[in-house]
Amino acid sequence: MRPSFYDHLHPPTIPAPQARFRYTLAAGGLAVFFMLVLLVTGVLEMFYYIPTPEQAGASIQTLTFLVPYGGLVRNLHYWSAQLLIVVVVLHLLRVIFTGAYISPRRFNYLLGMSLLVICLLMDFTGYILRWDQGIHWALVTSTNLIKSIPLIGSGLYTILVGGSQPGSATLIRFYGWHIFGLTLVAGVVLVWHLFRIRRDGGIAVPPPLKRESLDRISRYELVRREVLAILLASIALLLLAVFVPAPLAPPITEASSNYATAHAPWFFLWIQEMLKQGNPFLWGVVVPLVVIAAMTLIPYIFPKPTKDELGKWFPHSNRLAQIFFILILLVIGILTIVDLLPAS
Ligand code: HEM
Repeated sequence: MRPSFYDHLHPPTIPAPQARFRYTLAAGGLAVFFMLVLLVTGVLEMFYYIPTPEQAGASIQTLTFLVPYGGLVRNLHYWSAQLLIVVVVLHLLRVIFTGAYISPRRFNYLLGMSLLVICLLMDFTGYILRWDQGIHWALVTSTNLIKSIPLIGSGLYTILVGGSQPGSATLIRFYGWHIFGLTLVAGVVLVWHLFRIRRDGGIAVPPPLKRESLDRISRYELVRREVLAILLASIALLLLAVFVPAPLAPPITEASSNYATAHAPWFFLWIQEMLKQGNPFLWGVVVPLVVIAAMTLIPYIFPKPTKDELGKWFPHSNRLAQIFFILILLVIGILTIVDLLPAS
């Protein structure tokens, strides 16, 4: 059989341990899948979305309730964005807990971290495009955080917001970043990340003498497993999109002042909770940047996993990095839960 274009994305054979679900959790592959769903559904949404403060909210209502299958397309876009964040964090967890980031994959770890940040920014700018009363926190508080940066804050604010307060210039800028700027960067970094996997010798596996078996699987078997994972993910995504609609509050108008539903997107609730401590620059800018920097530097600051333990879950040699990562996730998780609790 002649290999198809899709087959060419993989080498003719790979070591069997590289393709075990219990090793990769299929998380990196599913992240690629959700990004593709986002691209297709996002392009479809562009036919109806109008990026002006007066019409944005109403155009989303039209898309959701009047356009045939418009609600489904919007829900698919929303849910793939949420699931993307979940699988990327799972993928990061897998990479750290298998010590897969050591040389020669250290550079790809950095590309991966930038993909994580780009995904969060894309999700955040998309959330703003909703321009309904629910996004008030994100719009006002987050842009004000930029202002709190000493020396460069107000200049950055004007560049980001396009004026002295959020308005039509802000919406068109966020729209530009969402559909073009960030999407373009995400595409380039993603292709680079995938290219580096091949360049670095495929997914990390134990050295031949430490492997349980030296079996290899063909690219056809690999594609079969990928298609199966995509099928299962598609079923989960469709069920969510059909039964759980993406949130939508009434559009922001001159008169609307009730922002009871306004809150940060779920993946930034921990920052919203920290901001209750006061000092927006410290809790809203410095601490989140330190967390991202610390995660990025994991391959550089913690004892390195040994090559002997490569391709195994929970190597002894990088225990410290594993504990550190779990602590970060725990603190973020606890702050998120506390933020969700009703205020007494
Ligand atoms: C949109 C985000 C991302 C996508 C689409 C993506 C995609 C992938 C894919 C398809 C693989 C090969 C299969 C697998 O290991 O599951 C992979 C491997 C890898 N990724 Fe990512 N990734 C993303 C984010 C990240 C992040 C956040 C990190 C870490 C900071 C990272 C670091 C790595 C490394 C080091 C490898 C090689 C792993 C090994 O050899 O075992 N990636 N990525």
